[in-house]
Amino acid sequence: MKILGISAHYHDSAAALLIDGLPVAAVQEERMSRRKNDAAFPLAAIEWCLESAGLEPEDLDAVVFYERPMLKFERILTTALRAFPVGRQAFVHAMRNSLGEKIWVRGIIQAQLGVSRRKILFTEHHQSHAAAAFLTAPTREAAILTTDGVGEWATLTVGRGRRTLGGPTAVDLIREVRWPHSLGMLYSTFTAFLGFAVNEGEYKVMGLAAYGTPRFADAVRKVIRRTADGAFSLDLGYFEFHTTVAQSYSRAFIDLFGPPRAAWDPIDLATDEGRRFADIAASVQLVLEEILVDMARALQRETGLSDLCLGGGVALNGVANARILAESGFERLFVPPAPGDAGCALGAALYADRVHFGNPDQDFPDHPFWGPAVEAGELTRIASEDGLAVETLDDAALIARTAQDLAAGRIVGWMDGAGELGPRALGARSILAAPHSAETRDRLNRDIKYREEFRPFAPVVPAELAERYFELPPGGVRLARFMSGVFPVRPAWRARLAAVTHVDGTARVQALEREMAPRLHDLIMAYGKLTGVPVLLNTSFNLAGEPIVSRVAEGYSTFRRSGIDVLAAGRERVVKRAFAKVSIEEEIA
Ligand SMILES: [Fe+2]
Repeated sequence: MKILGISAHYHDSAAALLIDGLPVAAVQEERMSRRKNDAAFPLAAIEWCLESAGLEPEDLDAVVFYERPMLKFERILTTALRAFPVGRQAFVHAMRNSLGEKIWVRGIIQAQLGVSRRKILFTEHHQSHAAAAFLTAPTREAAILTTDGVGEWATLTVGRGRRTLGGPTAVDLIREVRWPHSLGMLYSTFTAFLGFAVNEGEYKVMGLAAYGTPRFADAVRKVIRRTADGAFSLDLGYFEFHTTVAQSYSRAFIDLFGPPRAAWDPIDLATDEGRRFADIAASVQLVLEEILVDMARALQRETGLSDLCLGGGVALNGVANARILAESGFERLFVPPAPGDAGCALGAALYADRVHFGNPDQDFPDHPFWGPAVEAGELTRIASEDGLAVETLDDAALIARTAQDLAAGRIVGWMDGAGELGPRALGARSILAAPHSAETRDRLNRDIKYREEFRPFAPVVPAELAERYFELPPGGVRLARFMSGVFPVRPAWRARLAAVTHVDGTARVQALEREMAPRLHDLIMAYGKLTGVPVLLNTSFNLAGEPIVSRVAEGYSTFRRSGIDVLAAGRERVVKRAFAKVSIEEEIA
């Protein structure tokens, strides 16, 4: 059975193709269109998925959209009407957007792909999140918690899933919290207040939080209150996202927290103002963690299960995830590499396959590499047109040379195999560097990523050695598989891992099992032999404001436009001219 899953029209569109229950291709539209967080109907992603499997649209048995457009439209309309006339602007915006595209999804799919109407199915948004979390995890029975900004009406669901290998699958969502009460919207509102871009700057809030003390926690608890049933509700007097598209927080919010930060104002932590912003970030982060830990703990007691699968965009909060693992009573915590809406394309397809069609359950391949692959010979072709010499080496030689580059302090663009689904580089499209000095971090921020200094870089370490360098609780190595948890760096190693240790002594570590990305694992071990520390700095291969590179041409262009010194794509390797001379001298020596 051939099933195509699609997510679109909010942010981060994606397509995923399942054949006989297993994924064969999945990619975000942004990786194809090169527009970051592209929310358009993912035609290029769909075309690539079909092409990579040699299929035509008419070969598909089903096309599954990741949410129910009419329910979503009902929510937008009801919200706007409730707020009318205050919400007149939101109403017009919603009508224009929704009538323009969103509710006619069936028609769009039919027109774009030419598939018959009866093959087009819809899942609920949080069913897609739940399926993306539970059906991709190596567990047979687990509690499920999904949290995001909003889908149709739900903003948080709890439930449980049960699967039998070769047999039936059940994904039951038991309860939900409904719009406008939303943890995702709470965090996004603070993201906007702190002057960062919503749906993208949430990482920055989490990074900034480490510099602050949560002295505004009681104020945050005023805007989000706990309810008797263990959930929460927003005090809507502090918010405006439900009535207007122009601003997400109200006058009362500003009275409580002080003036917001303008996006162009730098955050200077040496000033009272800078510290206030860091303290506000720390406060919303703390309250978010408290609520999630409480809800997870209640779910553990209710279900008595030992595994929890987390889905939805809020599951990208690695600090909260680490606390859930440590404090909720669950023994194992699974977060997929793409818990946000991009992963819903895969979730929707899986939900249709296992639940709607009742196909037998199968083990899901435990990795995120479903995108376009590095093509052999491509780097040689592009770089030689550009006048740069490319070497093609066998694996051992390429890894040895790259380890030497890294040990010499060079920054390496690393492209290997198929690209990652989800926002994190997990070994296929990474920028790698030595993790030791803060200078490397500053150089990366200055010459390549152009980021604020308070955003930490992440380390990657072989899973079997992770505990030597990082304080991982039971279940921590699993949570670190896809970089989903933030854990303390062991104090003895912090100075030697300065480029990847955050100001509070933590790191968003990736614990890499060799079977997931063998060449990267071998590279880290080779680097460890040279330097004594088998850890690398691993950050996504892209410039600020651009999506992660997908094809070799994009990797090469990024290499040329930035301070990356060496580019390795598969078995091919090219160096900047300035370093070519040094390399030859090293060889002679
Ligand atoms: Fe979502």
